[in-house]
Amino acid sequence: MKPAKEQGTSRAKGPAIDPSNDIEFRAVSKRYGDVTAVAGVDLAVPKGAFVALLGPSGCGKTTCLRMIGGFEQPTEGTVLIENRPMNGVPPYQRPVNMVFQHYALFPHLDVMANVSYGLRQMRPPLARTEVQRRSEEALELVRLGGYARRRIHELSGGQQQRVALARAIVNRPAVLLLDEPLAALDRKLRTAMQFELQTLQRELGITFLLVTHDQEEALSMSDFVCVMNAGRVAQTGTPREVYDTPNSLFVADFVGKTNHLSGTLEPGGVLRLANGVGLAVGGNGTGRVAVVLRPEAIRLHPEAAGRGFAGTVTHRIFLGSTVEYAVAADGLGDFLVTADRGKSDGTAEPGARVRLAFDPTALHLYPS
Ligand SMILES: Nc1ncnc2c1ncn2[C@@H]1O[C@H](COP(=O)(O)OP(=O)(O)O)[C@@H](O)[C@H]1O
Ligand SMILES: [Mg+2]
Repeated sequence: MKPAKEQGTSRAKGPAIDPSNDIEFRAVSKRYGDVTAVAGVDLAVPKGAFVALLGPSGCGKTTCLRMIGGFEQPTEGTVLIENRPMNGVPPYQRPVNMVFQHYALFPHLDVMANVSYGLRQMRPPLARTEVQRRSEEALELVRLGGYARRRIHELSGGQQQRVALARAIVNRPAVLLLDEPLAALDRKLRTAMQFELQTLQRELGITFLLVTHDQEEALSMSDFVCVMNAGRVAQTGTPREVYDTPNSLFVADFVGKTNHLSGTLEPGGVLRLANGVGLAVGGNGTGRVAVVLRPEAIRLHPEAAGRGFAGTVTHRIFLGSTVEYAVAADGLGDFLVTADRGKSDGTAEPGARVRLAFDPTALHLYPS
């Protein structure tokens, strides 16, 4: 995602139109009485991209989607779709479709009738053969060819999800809005559908904007992630950028597992940890800082190795290809460490004395 536009002097004339954007938010806010659901959001979704809006429950994700869909109007600011301001444009005139969190299928209709519903509402009406052809094509795309005559209650959760998707893509919107589309599926099906959504997006070539509170889902599927917190955009970037270089403690915590250390930054770029050890981290600030370290950035060595912080393994959790350890580090508190099962550091037992080693460049420092 491109960075939000600078609020420069050109703003009085309005920012320049970027034809490569499918959706743009310009200083959009939404209030419900005293509740500010969305607070001054700037957002640019490039044409053809798969973008995830990621954030905790209640941070304003669904409200953003509903403003794009036209089900809510912004209290302030402008939503643009394909560079057209959407003020006053009703939902059915917007080139977007929404897949709702609870699929909202018609239970008494069969799969074909659900999928073709939007096409059958079109005025002037489409030929019946055309409705049939396009609906079958949409069903093939979600791998439900052959299910046209099934009733909704005769389908599994994953199949119902696909019907909802087929219904939303059947009239080829410019943008597909997906609100927590995988939340109701079990873990294995969710992973399979993550791959399928990616494939579908590439096959269709249309812009996907997906809302989720699940960081793994957001990081694994999207080209760009927009992390939201309390109605605001906390950070936008590629999945790798927000994971590797989170711009705040909130983003670091929300997009992955973290270890927290507290320390003091001393002149000369030395970070003094609670155990008295000083680490050269560079920079020129001073004062208390919050320090974050990802579990996979730590290596475990036998205590005799002599380098790194000493500690005792308290728990070992086998996760298949990886192993997670809880380690109580002397004078520093508890650490979470992820190791590869096959490597030597994947074999420590609870009770073992170990050393925790990491590169100081892996530390993220935030003022506290
Ligand atoms: N129709 C509404 N009336 C009043 N408050 C609302 C309404 N819709 C959403 N909110 C509030 O706005 C905030 C954001 O909600 P929402 O966009 O649904 O969050 P998310 O989808 O990220 O969980 C929440 O505090 C929610 O309670
Ligand atoms: Mg929501």
